[in-house]
Amino acid sequence: MKLAQALQIFSLGAYVASAFPTSADNSSLEVFESSCADIVPKLNIANATVYFSQFVAAGTNLTLDNNVTCTQPSQVAPVDMCRIALYVATSSQSGINMEAWLPANWTGRFLSTGNGGLNGCIGYGYMAYAISYGFASVGANNGHNGTSGGAFLNNAEVVKDFAWRSVHTGVLAGKEIAKTFYGKAHTKSYYLGCSTGGRQGFKSAQDFPEDFDGIVAGAPAIAFNNLTSWSGHFLPITGNTTAPTFVPTNMWPVIHQDILNQCDGLDGYVDGIIEDPLKCNYTSKNLICSGANTTNCLTSLQSETVQKIFSPLYADDGSLIYPRMQPGSEIVASFVQYSGTPFPYTVDWFRYAIYNDPSWDPYTISNKDYVYANQVNPADIQTWKGDLSGIQERGAKILHFHGQMDGIISSDNSPRYYNHVSQTMGLGTKQLDEFYRFFRMSGTAHCTGGDGASVFGLTYGSVESDNPKENVLMAVVEWVEKGNAPETITGTRWVNNTQSLGVDYKRAHCRWPKSNHFTGGDPKEVGSWQCI
Ligand SMILES: *[C@@H]1O[C@H](CO)[C@@H](O)[C@H](O)[C@H]1NC(C)=O
Ligand SMILES: *[C@@H]1O[C@H](CO)[C@@H](O)[C@H](O)[C@H]1NC(C)=O
Ligand SMILES: *[C@@H]1O[C@H](CO)[C@@H](O)[C@H](O)[C@H]1NC(C)=O
Ligand SMILES: *[C@@H]1O[C@H](CO)[C@@H](O)[C@H](O)[C@H]1NC(C)=O
Ligand SMILES: *[C@@H]1O[C@H](CO)[C@@H](O)[C@H](O)[C@H]1NC(C)=O
Ligand SMILES: *[C@@H]1O[C@H](CO)[C@@H](O)[C@H](O)[C@H]1NC(C)=O
Ligand SMILES: *[C@@H]1O[C@H](CO)[C@@H](O)[C@H](O)[C@H]1NC(C)=O
Ligand SMILES: *[C@@H]1O[C@H](CO)[C@@H](O)[C@H](O)[C@H]1NC(C)=O
Ligand SMILES: *[C@@H]1O[C@H](CO)[C@@H](O)[C@H](O)[C@H]1NC(C)=O
Ligand SMILES: *[C@@H]1O[C@H](CO)[C@@H](O)[C@H](O)[C@H]1NC(C)=O
Ligand SMILES: *[C@@H]1O[C@H](CO)[C@@H](O)[C@H](O)[C@H]1NC(C)=O
Repeated sequence: MKLAQALQIFSLGAYVASAFPTSADNSSLEVFESSCADIVPKLNIANATVYFSQFVAAGTNLTLDNNVTCTQPSQVAPVDMCRIALYVATSSQSGINMEAWLPANWTGRFLSTGNGGLNGCIGYGYMAYAISYGFASVGANNGHNGTSGGAFLNNAEVVKDFAWRSVHTGVLAGKEIAKTFYGKAHTKSYYLGCSTGGRQGFKSAQDFPEDFDGIVAGAPAIAFNNLTSWSGHFLPITGNTTAPTFVPTNMWPVIHQDILNQCDGLDGYVDGIIEDPLKCNYTSKNLICSGANTTNCLTSLQSETVQKIFSPLYADDGSLIYPRMQPGSEIVASFVQYSGTPFPYTVDWFRYAIYNDPSWDPYTISNKDYVYANQVNPADIQTWKGDLSGIQERGAKILHFHGQMDGIISSDNSPRYYNHVSQTMGLGTKQLDEFYRFFRMSGTAHCTGGDGASVFGLTYGSVESDNPKENVLMAVVEWVEKGNAPETITGTRWVNNTQSLGVDYKRAHCRWPKSNHFTGGDPKEVGSWQCI
């Protein structure tokens, strides 16, 4: 069977699945393989140099190029695919390294992945996850290699790639590659990302609404300059590890328990999970040492540190820079923001993107830095536009989620953005529900992990089911293609957090502005909880 013949099957309906299946029918797989080998000269991508195309059989363990993977050394291909690597120049002094992974069993869908932190790395895990569902997927290195922001120094073009141009360029190139390879344009276009990837999803929604029909944006690093100021402001609060204001790491589990004592029951059930941290107004006064007791307690200076950590950050002019850290995430955060050491992304962002001064000292961070960063807003990275009418008018959909025990990006910032969209567009929840839904994932840390039902299909290692009710990626596909909008997203808790041990419980995470309440019965049953 020839490629053209094979593709006819696609136009008759269903999936290219039938055109390029796996080893059961080797003739079409051979066609796929040779199409992959022959694709490079056929590609005509603006400003691109195509490095290679390579057929990768399902199960192959790919060794990844350390330059563009940051720390991930290898990735197993879940399905047969054609892998294409290229470079696309974005200016005379910048460009992106990217890959397109084109599954043999193509559904006709396209998907772009995003990045994390200040990376610098192709999201291979997400790409593998996407092709396992038959998406033609792309991932780019965001304009530089590695986890550091050093490449931003005196190069505004690289910052521009990081802020928005890498994803947009990769999408244009990727759609073109898919069209040339399969001989047919994609049907629907999707985005999947978390953290910096969540910000990139919102950046696309705000500035390039035509790029995607469905966006999954988790734990978004939006209000980016302010977030970066906030991440850096903990250091002057805690001081370094020998300062009297510093709270030792071994006190944070004690504080966490005290937080649970005050707030876990607010949702009607004490299970170690705070369903709605916005309702939690923690005071550490019960932990202040009294008399001769100096164990498992806080000095008054340390107690002030804790209160400041759980207070919003305001500029001297009284404007809010960023909300407080939400209570519940403190054990993770104690090893990061409260560790008495500089937060690396804040250091790099201020040194290389804000000031172009590698000697900037994170110990001196203060109001003038917060205000200046917001003013400079390099490459408009803030990602805070409240007008999503581009998405609304196209009928595209945004599924926004945020873990309620996120120790890196406070989940309090997500409802702030939702409300900002609501005010900017003059739309209430009912109208926003048509194209923008926000879910609060209780017991979920930064993107994945956490103490609760944190498995909901974001990526490999975090999947219980392909059912759209339990899988954010399948949920947005169902919404875009069938109009079935997600009411809740059900997360899974595995026994001992281990998939092979089976399901401990599931919980349906609520859509903002609702929050989950225990209504009686077995707390491990989804039906014992209600979104109100
Ligand atoms: C191809 O994709 C279809 C639809 O997603 C799926 O039902 C089928 O099992 C896949 N076949 C292979 C060989 O992966
Ligand atoms: C198809 O290819 C696989 C591996 O490439 C091989 O093991 C299998 O025997 C082939 N099947 C047929 C029917 O040729
Ligand atoms: C893939 O190869 C790497 C070494 O390059 C190895 O560490 C890893 O365990 C392999 N993965 C699988 C699933 O075999
Ligand atoms: C990594 O990038 C450097 C340039 O910074 C290049 O010299 C090297 O060949 C690259 N490594 C690979 C495996 O391509
Ligand atoms: C990034 O890594 C890629 C792949 O190894 C390499 O081709 C490229 O030159 C590197 N970019 C920079 C700026 O070093
Ligand atoms: C990209 O290509 C277009 C024309 O194909 C050209 O005008 C533009 O200068 C190129 N941009 C870069 C960054 O090379
Ligand atoms: C502790 O912080 C002070 C600034 O407040 C700094 O001068 C000193 O070097 C720091 N010590 C360590 C070990 O980081
Ligand atoms: C938390 O406490 C502060 C100060 O007492 C108060 O202003 C605020 O309204 C409280 N918030 C909630 C959610 O109870
Ligand atoms: C010391 O104070 C802490 C905080 O109030 C309390 O939890 C702990 O039980 C006290 N220890 C003793 C020995 O009294
Ligand atoms: C960012 O912080 C500035 C204060 O420096 C404040 O005026 C502005 O409203 C904040 N923006 C967002 C999106 O939080
Ligand atoms: C779960 O972990 C606990 C302790 O960490 C252990 O006692 C228990 O046996 C484990 N359960 C299973 C099913 O492995």
